[in-house]
Amino acid sequence: MLKRTCTCGEPRKNNSGETITLSGWINTYRDQGKGLVFIDLRDRYGMTQVVFDAEDTPTEVMDAGSTLRREDVISVTGEIRLRDGKPNARLATGEIELVAKDIEVINRTAKLPILPDDHDADKIGEEHRLKYRYIDLRRPAMQKILKLRHQITQFTRNFFASNDFLEIETPLLITPTPEGARDFIVPSRHQEGCWYALPQSPQIFKQILMVAGCDKYLQICKCLRDEDPRADRQAEFTQIDLEMSFVDQDDVLAIMSEFATGLYKEVGGIDLGDLPHISWKDAMDKYGSDRPDTRFDLQLQDVTELASKTDFKVFNEACESGGNVKAMRVPGGAEKLSRKKTDAFAEVAKTYGAGGLPVVKYEGGKFVTGVAKFVEPIKEELVQALGLEDGDIVMFGVGSYRVACTSLGEVRLAVAKELDLIPKGLFRGLWVIDFPMFDWNEEGQRWVSEHHPFTAPLESHLDILESDPENCLSSGYDLVINGAEVGGGSIRIHTPEIQSKVFGLLGLSQEEAEDKFGFLLNALRFGAPPHGGVAFGLDRLVMMMIGTDNIRDVIAFPKTQTGADLMCEAPGIADPNQLDELGIIMREPVQTTEPA
Ligand code: AMO
Repeated sequence: MLKRTCTCGEPRKNNSGETITLSGWINTYRDQGKGLVFIDLRDRYGMTQVVFDAEDTPTEVMDAGSTLRREDVISVTGEIRLRDGKPNARLATGEIELVAKDIEVINRTAKLPILPDDHDADKIGEEHRLKYRYIDLRRPAMQKILKLRHQITQFTRNFFASNDFLEIETPLLITPTPEGARDFIVPSRHQEGCWYALPQSPQIFKQILMVAGCDKYLQICKCLRDEDPRADRQAEFTQIDLEMSFVDQDDVLAIMSEFATGLYKEVGGIDLGDLPHISWKDAMDKYGSDRPDTRFDLQLQDVTELASKTDFKVFNEACESGGNVKAMRVPGGAEKLSRKKTDAFAEVAKTYGAGGLPVVKYEGGKFVTGVAKFVEPIKEELVQALGLEDGDIVMFGVGSYRVACTSLGEVRLAVAKELDLIPKGLFRGLWVIDFPMFDWNEEGQRWVSEHHPFTAPLESHLDILESDPENCLSSGYDLVINGAEVGGGSIRIHTPEIQSKVFGLLGLSQEEAEDKFGFLLNALRFGAPPHGGVAFGLDRLVMMMIGTDNIRDVIAFPKTQTGADLMCEAPGIADPNQLDELGIIMREPVQTTEPA
């Protein structure tokens, strides 16, 4: 085998005259006729033009060269010379070319189902890219992402190692962890009828590591949640998982802020700003979201009191049932936002629980269109409260506090997109703090954790934990960048008494709590230090940095919307003997169709 002496990204002008060997894939192939064949040879590091020139290349090498096809794998030895004519500005090696003197065709490729061409990537259906991922990943853009991901994990390991964190692995076959999603379960052969759950996160284990005296823990780990994938959600994803002992919220947020800003600066060359803290209530009030996008200015205002003075049934009903009316002024929106567009925004509001989206335009000192006649009686006050100017449009979010805020908050994002209000290349990060401990679940008529059940109440709210759960705030926090939640964590409960109280409020009986989380409660009984931590979504951090909305772009081997791996064709049918060994009988005969 001809052994490569350098990579395809390396040769430069000052190597002229040197003899080198390159190995890689044929990116492009051009036979000019007249004894001239050009190829661009590609590897992970770059591309070099190789020329088969009848005047300088031995005949048998010329012959081999003329049989090449795109994506064949070859090694080629030759001499570097300056190119005739203009350098190729697209290539770092663009000033030189390699004149082929010897060649080894290592592997010829079969007829290619897709080409690893960045320019064509959008035209190839994603299914094809996923099925032939090994070809897709050869694309320079994908190689760049894999490298960026590596740089992020390297930075992470170095940063936390230099701050005394220990990297510790936790098991994959465990009992259920409550992150709010459905578990993937795995049957046990030794204990027929029993099942492991795959971890939704290492939450309980990392807390137990604190009880074990590990003090500062890091793991870059897979988390598995059997939920429907979305653009920014996969069933199998990666967390940068951290936990620390003898700390309070400020300590955790300080070091995690240093990490996040350092990471974006060092790896992405991105200035995240100084990561201000905003309370959950402020975020909901002003931006209608617990992950506010603060890159643009539109803000929500509460106009419940004013709205209650109108005769508008929709407003009145909300006000009378203890709900809210929120308003958002869109400067200049009267002209820019047609009826068709505001109707589309109303659909957005409806998906978030609102009945619709009342709107009104302010033109020539008058309210026009939409709910103009209803808000006329509060005109002066509304104009003043919202600082309305001629040509503005006002949109209203109506419903319970959460519905009024979130429906208008989502409309706020849609308006920003429509009016192109988000400056390109700008990054804004912040910590949302002071979350409520609980959210009331209407369907189940019970409290559910806003974060997870191990999150401690704020110390100053401990006394209202049981008497006023609705207003009890937690020590949970989320890191939000450009409106996406990229991390979340909390200070944890570290005494069995408070943990039991929280389980109780969540509707778990003493027995159920012992049954599900007895090992954690036990650990808390045997010397638990105060502790807290966070988990960052690695995939989302990469998505943000490269600016993609598609989580599958940043994962080497992602799953489709239906949880399939199209390359290895998982999930697949289990061998009947395997099922037999596990004591599993299928209810229906097994369908042997291809996974979707
Ligand atoms: P949480 O569930 O908020 O917290 O997850 C932490 C972060 O992980 C990312 N994330 C996801 N990324 C891709 N696909 C998913 N399905 C997905 N789910 C979550 C998000 C999120 O902010 N144990 C706690 C952390 C802690 O309290 O320390 C936990 O898992 O970026």
